[in-house]
Amino acid sequence: MKALVVLWLSLVFSVALPLTVPVAVAQQGGAAGATLDPTLFEQGRQLYDANCVACHQAGGLGTPPNLPALSGNDRLKDLNLIVRAIRTGQGGMVAFPNLTADEIAALASYVRNTWSNKFGAVSAEQVTTILAGLAKPNSAKLSVWSGVYTAAQNKRGEEVYSGGCAYCHGSRLNGAGHSDQPPSPAVAREGFLRKWSGQTVAALFVYVRTRMPSDNPGIFTDQQSIDSIAHMLAVSGLPAGDKELPTDPKALEGFVIELKPK
Ligand code: HEC
Ligand code: HEC
Repeated sequence: MKALVVLWLSLVFSVALPLTVPVAVAQQGGAAGATLDPTLFEQGRQLYDANCVACHQAGGLGTPPNLPALSGNDRLKDLNLIVRAIRTGQGGMVAFPNLTADEIAALASYVRNTWSNKFGAVSAEQVTTILAGLAKPNSAKLSVWSGVYTAAQNKRGEEVYSGGCAYCHGSRLNGAGHSDQPPSPAVAREGFLRKWSGQTVAALFVYVRTRMPSDNPGIFTDQQSIDSIAHMLAVSGLPAGDKELPTDPKALEGFVIELKPK
C-alpha cells in the first residue's frame, strides 16, 4: 500500500510539476548537472552556424552594444532566458518559432559550453517544460498592417533607399540590382513579408541598422534605417498612418510583421 502511494505521488508530481512550476523544475534540472551529450552539442554547433553566426559571430563575441556577446556571458546560466530568447525573440533578436525543443536544447547545450562558457548540459525535457510555460508570443502587438508609418517617413526612406540600397536590392526592391553586385534578396512584397512574418519590426531594424549596406554596414543612422523600413512596408502595399515608426528598438518590439492584414 505504501509503495502504491509513493508510485501515485510520483506519477502525480511528474505530470503536474512541469505544468505548474516550470521555472523551478528547469532550474533544478540545471543544478542537477546532467552530463553533456556530444551528439547534441555537435547538432547545436551546426544550428548555431546556420542561424546565429550572422549576429553573435563565430567566436560568440557579437558586436556589442547592439549584438551582445554570448561567450563569457553569465546570463547564459539562466536556461529560461536562452529558451525565451530563441523561441519568442527579444529586442533586436529575431524569433525562431519553428525550432523544436530538441533543436533548442542542442543550441542551448552548445552556447552554454563552447568558447569560454561552462554553464552545464541541457536536456530536451528541460526545454519542453520551459516552452510550455511561455506566454503566447505577439498577442499584444500591433500589426504592421494597421498604419504604423507615415507618408513623409516613406518619402524620406525612399531617398535613403535609392541612394544606399537600390544598387544591390534593385530600384523596385525586388532584388534585381546592378549587374556588378552580388545577388541580393527582395526587400518588399509577399516573399519578403513571409520571410519576416512573426518577427517584430525591432528585429528587422537591428538587422538593417547593423548589417546593411552589406558592403559598408552601419553607415546609416537609426532614423535613416527605420525610414528605409517604412519604404519597404509602403512598397509592399501596407497602408500609411498618422504616426511614424520610432527608432527605439524597445518600442519597435510592439510592432509585428505579418503576411496579411487580420
Ligand atoms: C538578427 C540578429 C540575431 C540573430 C540572428 C540571433 N540573435 Fe541572439 N540576440 C540578438 C540581439 C540584438 C540580442 C539582444 C536582445 C535584447 O536587446 O534583449 C540577442 C540576445 C540573445 C540572447 C540573450 C543574451 C543576453 O545577454 O540576454 C541569447 C541567449 C541569444 N541571443 C542567442 C541566440 C541564438 C542561440 C541564436 C540562433 C538561434 C541567435 N541568438 C540569433 C540578435 C540576434
Ligand atoms: C552591397 C550590396 C547591398 C547593399 C548596398 C544593401 N544590401 Fe541589403 N542585403 C544584401 C545581401 C547580399 C543580403 C542578403 C544577406 C545575407 O544573405 O546574409 C541583404 C539582405 C537584406 C535584408 C534582409 C532580406 C531578407 O531576405 O531577409 C534587408 C531587409 C536589407 N538587406 C535591407 C537593406 C537596406 C535597407 C539597405 C540600404 C540601407 C541595403 N539592404 C543595402 C546586399 C546589400
